[in-house]
Amino acid sequence: MLDSALPENPLWRPARRCPPRLAERYGLDPAATPANQAWALLYEREPELYDRLVEGENLHPRIFAELPIEAVTVLDVGAGSGRLTLPCAARAAEVLALEPAAGLRRELAAKLQRCGIANVRIIAGSDQAIPLPAGSVDVTVSCAAFGADPELGGEQGLAELRRVTRPGGQIFILWPDDPQWFLNRGFSYHAFAGAMETRFRDLQTAKLCAEIFYGEAALEWIRQSGRPILPYSVLGVNAPRDLCRCTVA
Ligand SMILES: C[S@@+](CC[C@H](N)C(=O)[O-])C[C@H]1O[C@@H](n2cnc3c(N)ncnc32)[C@H](O)[C@@H]1O
Repeated sequence: MLDSALPENPLWRPARRCPPRLAERYGLDPAATPANQAWALLYEREPELYDRLVEGENLHPRIFAELPIEAVTVLDVGAGSGRLTLPCAARAAEVLALEPAAGLRRELAAKLQRCGIANVRIIAGSDQAIPLPAGSVDVTVSCAAFGADPELGGEQGLAELRRVTRPGGQIFILWPDDPQWFLNRGFSYHAFAGAMETRFRDLQTAKLCAEIFYGEAALEWIRQSGRPILPYSVLGVNAPRDLCRCTVA
């Protein structure tokens, strides 16, 4: 069932913090490193590690069910290694995957080739100046990549999303960092109920991701359970169960 009430603490999202072990991995001081900088280094230097992380961080299945993408053109903003791109490609006519990080574009291209997916076009660029004509896509989606911070989109990015989406088309921001920012700009907010957990491909990957991205509580959970499965509540991260949506005028 849809629940449009905002959560108590909508701001505790992974992209908003710099995981200390991630900064240290690249020789940076965690206390002095902006989150965006540490994540950007991961995207360029170890895109396959990023892919293993998000492979385990499943989105709520109702999120996909909500997307009206059958046989239309979809733009995936900040596509990353394709967590959203691939499921969209299975239903859409074409997916345009906009991604600024060259490392992640390579990772996505390799994955598309491995999976034999031919209806995705990878586009280098950012949401600050999307290299597409006005009204050229039916649905724009973005997962964990777009927010109020100008580095993650901001007002200019949102204007770009509205420009490239055709009138009557829709914009979906999945797992938004700051839902209130979108509510203030004509979006509605929806969250889907149910227990959610991360499921990594194997124990080694779960331990590695816990060590680098989540911390001691997650590691301890894995030690005790002996399984590569962790509830989001253990991670201290809002589960990816929510979205903001709007129809373009
Ligand atoms: C946390 S990752 C999410 C990737 C993917 N959507 C997913 O769900 O796994 C954030 C992504 O946003 C991209 N990104 C960062 N700034 C951006 C911008 N200004 N415009 C478009 N993408 C951006 C990053 O390169 C990265 O791929």
